[in-house]
Amino acid sequence: MANPSILILAGDGIGPEVMGEVKKIITWYGDKRGLNFDVSEDLVGGCAYDAHGTPLTDATMAKAQEVDAVLLGAVGGPKYDNLDFSVKPERGLLRLRKEMDLYSNLRPAQCFDALADFSSLKKDVVAGLDIMIVRELTSGVYFGEPRGIHKEGNERVGINTQRYTESEIARVARSAFELARKRGNKVCSMEKANVMESGILWRQVVQEIHDAEYPDVELSHMYADAGAMQLTRWPKQFDVIVTDNLFGDLLSDLAAMLTGSLGMLPSASLGAPMENGRPKALYEPVHGSAPDIAGQGKANPIACILSFAMALRYSFNELAEADRLEKAVEKVLADGVRTGDLMGPEGGTPVSTTEMGDAIIAALDASL
Ligand code: IPM
Ligand code: MG
Repeated sequence: MANPSILILAGDGIGPEVMGEVKKIITWYGDKRGLNFDVSEDLVGGCAYDAHGTPLTDATMAKAQEVDAVLLGAVGGPKYDNLDFSVKPERGLLRLRKEMDLYSNLRPAQCFDALADFSSLKKDVVAGLDIMIVRELTSGVYFGEPRGIHKEGNERVGINTQRYTESEIARVARSAFELARKRGNKVCSMEKANVMESGILWRQVVQEIHDAEYPDVELSHMYADAGAMQLTRWPKQFDVIVTDNLFGDLLSDLAAMLTGSLGMLPSASLGAPMENGRPKALYEPVHGSAPDIAGQGKANPIACILSFAMALRYSFNELAEADRLEKAVEKVLADGVRTGDLMGPEGGTPVSTTEMGDAIIAALDASL
């Protein structure tokens, strides 16, 4: 059988640096566990614009459709701030999500014991935290029509449209309920049904799918603003949160900071199963391209490495190997190895991006 295929799109800013550590880990799995992948690389975001005048070429888009999993670093940077909207780096990422139809975006927020002191919240609020945000990723206000900036009389009007079909809500709800069954069996759905019709429909459809197909799962509903408040007040009340594209964007950044650093949060974006049974999939850290520290070897590669662990779990069904990688990260953190973003008030000497990657590989070796 052919090796599973991976397309690496490291992108901009710290993307290539953190992805460099993932490449070392992919090599480790080939050498030490006989898990070999066919890896190819290409451009996305600002670097693709520099090379081709577009943040994602049709050829790269076609490659992404063919592989078993895409690993993405980050896109964007101040250099591209003044580009036309249609060719901004982010458009490359959004095209991948849309055309691969990656409707279910899994963003786990897990607080490692060793980092419980790093959260801006009190330690007992975050210690042991393990929640999963399921963000709808291919619809809503990110893609709704009409959109644009028009002239109305003497002034300009900016328009975006929040739009959800029943089937779009139903499929992401199912994905949240399926996940909940493998975890704490609880789903909280968040919208703004008090002000938005799309929120009313969201709430109805999530409830209908629950009642018809997942009555064993505990379901609650919350307005998204109250949800944000509850996430900072007592986040451990949640197990799985399911929400739309825009609220999910906001709430997942908030949840990330509960864990100590945005440099820790991985994500998986999953679509429908392909012919080989694997879901269409793209894995990326939740953090951005961090232009302020790019190229300095300071970035924390853990979010990107944990994203590869999610690929092992969700695309390649290598559950024990995903556990192994997550445990290696946990061990390194417990040993006090820290990149700059994980420096507490007591200070210390931060390690570089590559030193963090090497420490994780040493922990992988020690796990054999
Ligand atoms: C994210 C990011 C993206 C988004 C940007 C880069 C387009 O913030 O993945 O959370 O808004 O979805
Ligand atoms: Mg975001």
